[in-house]
Amino acid sequence: MKILFVCLGNICRSPTAHAIFRQLAADNNFVCEVESAGTSASHKGAPPDPRSIKAAVDVSFKGIYSRPVQNDDFGYYDLILAMDLENMAALKRRCPAEHQHKLKLLMSYHAEFANQPEVPDPYYGGTRGFELVRQLIEQACEQLLAELQQRR
Ligand code: 4NP
Repeated sequence: MKILFVCLGNICRSPTAHAIFRQLAADNNFVCEVESAGTSASHKGAPPDPRSIKAAVDVSFKGIYSRPVQNDDFGYYDLILAMDLENMAALKRRCPAEHQHKLKLLMSYHAEFANQPEVPDPYYGGTRGFELVRQLIEQACEQLLAELQQRR
């Protein structure tokens, strides 16, 4: 199983999901490949935002640097999880028809999906936004892992 988490800049939300899911999978002996990417290339090569690292100090972000979504990601990954509707729309526009079924909102794995379909962009906000992002992502990732484990 190969999973790609996608946000806009690949410096806040998707690196948080990348780091948290990678840790959760390792802790539960769930073998998978985890990666993250951005629909924008504007932060290419940058490490995760220090505010995201601070909101998840207990999680390792080792080796995570921003990189844009590439066309061959759509064939390579089994599951491509967008953080919000705007990034979902950008992925849908680029993704070949035969891989569209791999595109999902990360929040669709969260119990509160109906009220909260998006992981909100924290970039221009304060610390609380980053804490909310971490919480939503962690809860959705726990549910995602549970579903993937049931399938195996
Ligand atoms: P991310 O957050 O998509 O969660 O990585 C953002 C990072 C950078 C910008 C916007 C959102 N930006 O406008 O530069």
